[in-house]
Amino acid sequence: MENNNEKVASKSKRKIIAFIAMAGGLAISHGFFGGYVVRYLLPKKKKIKLRQTLISNVKKLPTGQSFVFKDLRGSSIILANTPDGFKAISTTCTHLGCQVRWESAKSVFVCPCHNAYFDTDGNVMTGPAPKPLEQFEVILEDENIFVMLKEA
Ligand code: FES
Repeated sequence: MENNNEKVASKSKRKIIAFIAMAGGLAISHGFFGGYVVRYLLPKKKKIKLRQTLISNVKKLPTGQSFVFKDLRGSSIILANTPDGFKAISTTCTHLGCQVRWESAKSVFVCPCHNAYFDTDGNVMTGPAPKPLEQFEVILEDENIFVMLKEA
């Protein structure tokens, strides 16, 4: 026969177990819910596919020369034959978006808007540009110049 103290202790144990079960259930459901919220707020980054694209031939681009072409998304890219080899660099300045050009005499990319200078890899040398210019991989096969471009 249970006395009053044992009944109270047993009731308390049941309450504690019920509370732990409820708290555990809430934690699990909030964990799942939190996961959905995080996935919603931080959607998966789309993997950018690159395409090897024939742009020119080495005979058409002597040392120091450059030309601008459009990539598969319509953005402008400079292909330049620099002292460090063929380079494909975005023309869009990382400061305020002006169009950068290749300056053969100094072997630099220059943004005329606020005088930012970039080296042959697009790294900032001077000026207000906060980041390097976007660079694209150049592949030489035989005498053909391919550039790895983002698919449209
Ligand atoms: S936009 Fe190029 S330096 Fe300002």
